[in-house]
Order: sequence, then structure tokens, then C-alpha cells
Amino acid sequence: MKITKICCIGAGYVGGPTMAVIAQKCPHVQVTVVDLNEQRIKDWNDPNTDNIPIYEPGLSEIVAEARGRNLFFSTEVEKAIDEAQIIFISVNTPTKTYGKGKGMAADLKYIELCARQIAKVAKENKIVVEKSTLPVRTAEAIKSILDNTGNGVQFQILSNPEFLAEGTAVADLLNPDRILIGGDITPEGQDAINALVEVYANWVDKDKILTTNVWSSELSKLTANAFLAQRISSINAMSELCEKTGADVTEVAKAIGMDSRIGPKFLKASVGFGGSCFQKDILNLVYIAKSYGLNEVADYWEQVIIINDHQKRRFSSKIVQTLYNTVADKKIAFLGWAFKKDTNDTRESAAIYVADDLINEQAKISVYDPKVSRSKMLNDLDYLQTRSSEENSSSLAIFDNPYEACKGSHAIAILTEWDEFVAYDWQKIYDLMHKPAFLFDGRNILNSKELESIGFIYNGIGS
Ligand code: UDX
Ligand code: ADP
Repeated sequence: MKITKICCIGAGYVGGPTMAVIAQKCPHVQVTVVDLNEQRIKDWNDPNTDNIPIYEPGLSEIVAEARGRNLFFSTEVEKAIDEAQIIFISVNTPTKTYGKGKGMAADLKYIELCARQIAKVAKENKIVVEKSTLPVRTAEAIKSILDNTGNGVQFQILSNPEFLAEGTAVADLLNPDRILIGGDITPEGQDAINALVEVYANWVDKDKILTTNVWSSELSKLTANAFLAQRISSINAMSELCEKTGADVTEVAKAIGMDSRIGPKFLKASVGFGGSCFQKDILNLVYIAKSYGLNEVADYWEQVIIINDHQKRRFSSKIVQTLYNTVADKKIAFLGWAFKKDTNDTRESAAIYVADDLINEQAKISVYDPKVSRSKMLNDLDYLQTRSSEENSSSLAIFDNPYEACKGSHAIAILTEWDEFVAYDWQKIYDLMHKPAFLFDGRNILNSKELESIGFIYNGIGS
């Protein structure tokens, strides 16, 4: 089957960039991205592509090239489903906040809604691709809904997990380590796999396109994220030991990273990992293991999350302790709120939890982040439901200038590793601060020696 029309349900951090790159690389394929959120679609259609709702380096240029040519953003979900041969599901699958599996299992209500909508609309055979991170065996649930509520047409369900990291989404999509496609072993399943392989083969070498059964593909996504997160929790656990013993975690990471069996990547000690995937996927893995009675397996992976929570709490406790055990009414400046640099995404960002802890200690937080909006920061805090929105907004002052954010502060905490922070005039910032001037570098990006020579009392992670 030659693919000429693709639709993607969900215009978020995954759907948006992925479809933009497919459209750019496959000019002969019409790609329509749909979303229920009208504002989001309006923003994707903003004539100035610098205003699209997702910030990713290089994305605005790709959207400028393909939009209106073969890339479209729309709220007409049913029309797009009806016309497409392949439908990607890229809707969000947050951790459940209610009922069975609360705080652990993935909430599949958005996925189910999509499946029902596809079943209702489809009048011809379709390939449905799971793009969101989903617990193993979701494909089965989607298939059951499609087959039992549909109009008698044939659906093939493929799992095609996304491995892009935010902040480098465009580069990851243009030059992926691998593309993974899982499908049924039947001839129809293989045809569907081949149709999707041909789409990617427009720009990805075929030897990097891996095909498997559906369950292997679904589980590989969870496994990859669990392994990556585990590396961070492992080095973060060592960072605490380094602080006690006088070792330096950056030196330890360098030393072990040169062992080719270990490798140098993903060994940066930090205030803790954030993002929409790691915690959610590991909780998912834990939930799946528990549901099969594999308690040791569940406990093993859960420890990755426990260390991560501990690392965030440890950072805020250290700020309080260092500031003479009280931060009440002190101003603490945060540089960064996003969960990592080069993204405006804040889901599960360590900054949220550190701010929450410090506000509990009655600190006043002033924040500067180059890409995160004020409303997003306040929503993030409100979402924790620790205190009222009014109390949150009176404890959190948001600035669009870093020097203003730092002015009069007792301490600065670096929460995101934005490159621009390194280039700041740190002497000027020092002069604007209360003395002694404390600096807590939650990302180990600044030069401790230089800052100490200015007069800062510097605290990094793991040294
Ligand atoms: C991750 C996976 O990398 C990606 O393959 C998957 O598709 C989705 O989940 P993402 O969450 O976008 O991507 O970002 P990633 O670069 O993995 O960073 C996750 C978190 O770990 C960030 O908060 C980051 O700052 C932190 N991190 C990363 C560290 O603290 N130390 C490191 O060495 C690397
Ligand atoms: P991700 O990081 O997985 O891309 P996002 O939250 O950024 O997650 O994006 C998911 C998008 O999916 C949101 O814009 C949301 O409005 C959209 N969405 C959720 N359910 C549906 C649905 N049934 N139909 C269309 N869009 C949906």
C-alpha cells in the first residue's frame, strides 16, 4: 500500500514535531495533525512560526517550510481520520490520579476516546499507530475497541514508540538511532509494518528500522526509559556519597564513563530528572510487574523513582540548612523552571518540587526561565494542591529578566541547564544580591572556582 495521507491525533510535544519532520521529509504525503484543543491548533497555525506552542530548536523553520504545503493543523478530527490511511495516536497518557492504579498506572481514557472515534468514523481499512508511551498490551485494548465497535472495516495496530528527547526533538527525528515498529505476525500485520517502514525509509536507512512483535515494541519503550533514568538515579545516589566523602561526582562520572562498557552519556548528576516520560514509564513498569505478582522486579525499578524524589528533596533541604536553617521571608531566585534546557515543557520538572518545599518553609521564590510562561509555572504549583492558588501566586514572583529575578535574593538556585546562564555577568549578579550570597547549582553548569573568587558561597551537586 502506498501511503499518501497520514493523520495524527494529538498536537503535543510528540505529535507536533514528529509530524512536522515526516511532512518535511515526505512532500508527497499529506500530513494532518488534529487536536481537541482549539487554542493549541490556533497556535500551530500562527502565521509567525516563532509563536507555535512548542519550543524546540529548528522546529519553527520546518513548520514554516511544510505548513500549508503538505502539513496541516486542524480541529476537524473526524474528517482527518476519515481521509487518512495511517492514523497516529499521540495523545497524552498521564499517570492515573484516581481509582485503581492511582499514582502508578497510565490513564488510558484519552487513548480509548481516540479508538472509539476512529471506530465510529472509519469506512475503509486503516492502520492505527500507537505513538504515545503506553503500557504493554494497550494495542490489544485498542484492537478490541476497534474490532467490536467499528463499521466492520479491518484495522491493523502498530506500535511505533517515540525515542525523541525534548530539546533535541528535531535532531533526534532527522537522525534517529533506530526506528522501532511492532506489528502482528500475520500477512496483514506485515503489510502494515511495511507501509510504515516505507514512510520512514524516505530519510532513515533501512538497517536502522527495526521490526518486532507488538509487545516487544511496547515493552522496549518502557525498558529504554527505565534504563536511562536508572543511570541518572545511580549517579545521583553516588553524588550524595561524594558530598560526604570529599569525592567529586563529576570526576567519578568522567572516570567511569571512559570505560567503554559504561560509556559517557547520561551520567550528569543533577537535582533530579523530570519530563513526561521517565517517572511515568517507570511507574508503569512497576505497576505491570506488580500486576503479574513480580514484587521483586517492581521494587527494583521503584527504587529509581525513590532516589529521584530523594534527590529533589535533598536539594531543597540543603538550601534551607545552608541558609542557617531558615528561609522564611528570604528571597530565593530560581534560574530555570523547564525540566531541561531547550524546551518550554515543565512536566515533572524538579523546579516545581523544590519550589513547593521552599514555599512550605515560607520562602519567597523569584523565577526566570527563558521559555516558560508565567501561567504554566503557577499551574504547575497549583497542580500539587499543597496550598491555594492565591498563596502560590503571592509566593512566586516571575521575571522576564534574570538580573531582576536575582536582585535582592539571599540565594540563587540553578534548576535548568540553559546555556545562557553560563554567559551571565556573575559579578553583576553578585553585586545585586544579599550577602553572604549563596549559589546552589542543581545542574553543575557553572564554574565553581570563578564564582568563589567573586565571593559566592557555591554548592554544586556531588562535590
Ligand atoms: C526521554 C528519553 O531520553 C527519550 O528517548 C524518550 O523518548 C522520552 O523520555 P526527555 O524526557 O525528553 O526524553 O529528556 P531526557 O534528555 O531524557 O532528560 C530527562 C531528564 O533527565 C531531564 O530532566 C534531564 O535534565 C535529566 N538528566 C538527563 C539528568 O539529570 N542527567 C543526565 O545525565 C541526563
Ligand atoms: P505528548 O508529550 O505525549 O505529546 P501532550 O500533552 O503535549 O503530550 O500532547 C497531547 C495532545 O493530545 C494534547 O494537545 C491534547 O489536547 C491532545 N488530545 C488528547 N486527547 C485527544 C483526543 N481524543 N482527540 C484529539 N486530541 C486529543
